[in-house]
Amino acid sequence: MIATAIWGVAMRGMLAGLWTVPGDYAHLRHAHSHGGVYLVVFPLCVLAWRHLGVPSVGRRTMVWYYAAGAASIVTFSLAGYSVFSIVASTIVAGGWLLAAYRGRSVLEQQGALRLMPVAFVIVTAFIPPIAIFTRRNPAMATMLVHSFLATLFLLIALPAALRRIGAVPLDARIYAPSALMAAAYLGAWPVAIASAGLLGVAALLSWTLLRSPIERVHRLAFLGFVAGSVALVVFGPVSHNTTIGGLHYLLLGPLFMALAPTYGVMAWCIFAAAATMGASLVGFSWLGPSLAHTIASAAGVAWAVFATIGLVRAWRATTEQAEPAVHGASAVP
Ligand code: HEM
Repeated sequence: MIATAIWGVAMRGMLAGLWTVPGDYAHLRHAHSHGGVYLVVFPLCVLAWRHLGVPSVGRRTMVWYYAAGAASIVTFSLAGYSVFSIVASTIVAGGWLLAAYRGRSVLEQQGALRLMPVAFVIVTAFIPPIAIFTRRNPAMATMLVHSFLATLFLLIALPAALRRIGAVPLDARIYAPSALMAAAYLGAWPVAIASAGLLGVAALLSWTLLRSPIERVHRLAFLGFVAGSVALVVFGPVSHNTTIGGLHYLLLGPLFMALAPTYGVMAWCIFAAAATMGASLVGFSWLGPSLAHTIASAAGVAWAVFATIGLVRAWRATTEQAEPAVHGASAVP
């Protein structure tokens, strides 16, 4: 997580004109985004599933998974999409499919957590076309990447995050088609009719948030995502910086705060850092490039500090709760 944040701050500082970074910017960007998804989002989901009693990949699998993820960061940084990064990513995708297989018992549940195994199969199916189109048709590859990320975040990470903080389950029968349509709208199929999917996700999420006994800071953070989704549909296509701002708000704010459950003052600090980063990029044209990138980079540093403290606390709490299980009692609520 710290490496991903350092990569991000390095790129943002470079865009602000504060310093230069050696190497190809596009390669660094690939390394950062893959590092974030492979080594931050997925491991946090595994932690959340374990806590929720969903069988998942064990420590031995995570060792080769982390090794492949780290190798992908190095190879993406040096050469972008090359045979080495594709091999490393294939091993990572193997870890995802293994997690889907081990966690297949969730298919019997009612809430949106049950979508996880099928969603992993869908996201891994995106990887070969993305690798092929990256050279032949970069615009198409970017659209596919956005649908890939949206599927991963909406169908896999978001249901796990909400359940982790004790929210009532999202109704999978309505949520699945809405989230799939939203993922298509956010990338490969940006047509008006598909925007109904994003509105469906926003409506269902609001309904769940209103009925759930969760902390105010978590409710507010997820409602920020709801507001952003509705604004996107109402105001239409947005600039690249707004998309990156919205994406980082979702990842660093509500998803992180719920997957690595953080409460109290630290949760407010993480929320404030994520919201500041999102707002500086959404307000890019008013603030001007230099100020917007500088604020986003300072928010990134603050987020990394708060998130590290939050993660250590969440890890300790999970270990302490899990301890009785070692002696025979169940740690699963
Ligand atoms: C640790 C969690 C993080 C994850 C999972 C993550 C994920 C991502 C992803 C997926 C992209 C690519 C988006 C696209 O191609 O459309 C991206 C781009 C980027 N991220 Fe992050 N990120 C994280 C943290 C950060 C932090 C802390 C910063 C610091 C400011 C940052 C700065 C950036 C920058 C500068 C870009 C490239 C934007 C551009 O080229 O316009 N990220 N990130």
